[in-house]
Amino acid sequence: MGVSVLSGKRILLGVTGGVAAYKAAVLARLLIRLGAQLTVVMTASAQRFVTPASFQALTGNRVHVDMWDERIADGMGHIELSRVSDFILVAPATTDFIARLAQGRADDLLAALCVARACPLWIAPAMNRQMWLHPATVRNVETITADGVRLLGPDAGVQACGEVGFGRMLEPEHIVAALEALLLPGGASPESSSSSEGLGYRLAGLDVLITAGPTFEPIDTVRGLTNRSSGKMGYAIAAAAQTAGARVTLVSGPTALSTPAGVTRLDVTTACEMFDAVMARAGAADVFIGVAAVADYRVAKVAAHKLKKTGVPPVLELVENPDILATVAALPDAPFCVGFAAETEDLHANAQAKRRRKQVPLLAANLAQEAFGRDDNALTLFDDAGEHVIARASKPAVARALLAHVAHLIGR
Ligand code: C5P
Repeated sequence: MGVSVLSGKRILLGVTGGVAAYKAAVLARLLIRLGAQLTVVMTASAQRFVTPASFQALTGNRVHVDMWDERIADGMGHIELSRVSDFILVAPATTDFIARLAQGRADDLLAALCVARACPLWIAPAMNRQMWLHPATVRNVETITADGVRLLGPDAGVQACGEVGFGRMLEPEHIVAALEALLLPGGASPESSSSSEGLGYRLAGLDVLITAGPTFEPIDTVRGLTNRSSGKMGYAIAAAAQTAGARVTLVSGPTALSTPAGVTRLDVTTACEMFDAVMARAGAADVFIGVAAVADYRVAKVAAHKLKKTGVPPVLELVENPDILATVAALPDAPFCVGFAAETEDLHANAQAKRRRKQVPLLAANLAQEAFGRDDNALTLFDDAGEHVIARASKPAVARALLAHVAHLIGR
């Protein structure tokens, strides 16, 4: 195992008062094992869940709990502690702490350190799902994201209160993995390579409708016309949009993928079914992203039984399928529409022509042979301002970069 990018990093770990505070002890241990130097600051309520003694034992350093600590010689602890850190990580970050961050309050040591800092601030939210969904929390998260605070999570799952939903703190090992990704040189590069900042929570409250996967057009009861689309790109976009605060509906052709957490999925088979499912929901959508590889044609007459081999090759009559994207884009109150173009050659010319033909503000183009079925992708985005390249990266990273660009274009 190589040396972690966290080795030697001076981390100020803030712990606030949520049930997940006990997981901060595991997190501290993982970070120390990777060679990080940890200073822990606890809020008063955090100390109701875990004691400073635990963190002191784990880190070997004195835990800071008080703004008025007389042991700090010049009384300027809040400035000093944040200035000597490479970054501040608050895990767990409660609803109240996020609200205090949003207001720029400095009413305890940790909040003051966050305001006084000259280093990045990353937080791992942890709260009940209703608290996470509360409009005030949504506003506060938007505010702190705009202020440059970066969110790690939250995750979805069973909560301490027994409810199921978003708000769980990311598991300590996932927080560590996210930190390592952020600290790698160019760690956030797929996001910054589009003309926008990171995605954060910039789609909060929006309805996003996405199509993904192939369609399957039956010839008879067992055979059909389909294509090699795996659905991975569309599913990655659905997951990323959900994490960025959107309500996501995914209309999916046949794929082997599992539904991303928190996403509503509707399964369809044919292009016509996909058209109906999309048109029933397009009116309520703020953003529509057509990632599906929709069959252009279907078989005119589907045989009611499996076709027999007769010795005479059958001739299939095809009829054109409706163009879902172009139809949505032409709606009087159309959502912001994003099209995909999977080309096998002449990417630029074909993509630009497709953007004009379908009348969409943004078209994301890739080479089919370099995208279908793979776990990574590279996109060229075409919009009114020109072209933007999203460099090759994992599909989840490309999805975030694409959505950051969408957020930028819709003024988020
Ligand atoms: O024309 P082409 O199939 O290459 O266009 C691709 C884009 O149009 C994709 O965004 C795809 O989801 C969408 N599309 C559609 N309905 C069709 C064909 C394509 O929505 N019938």
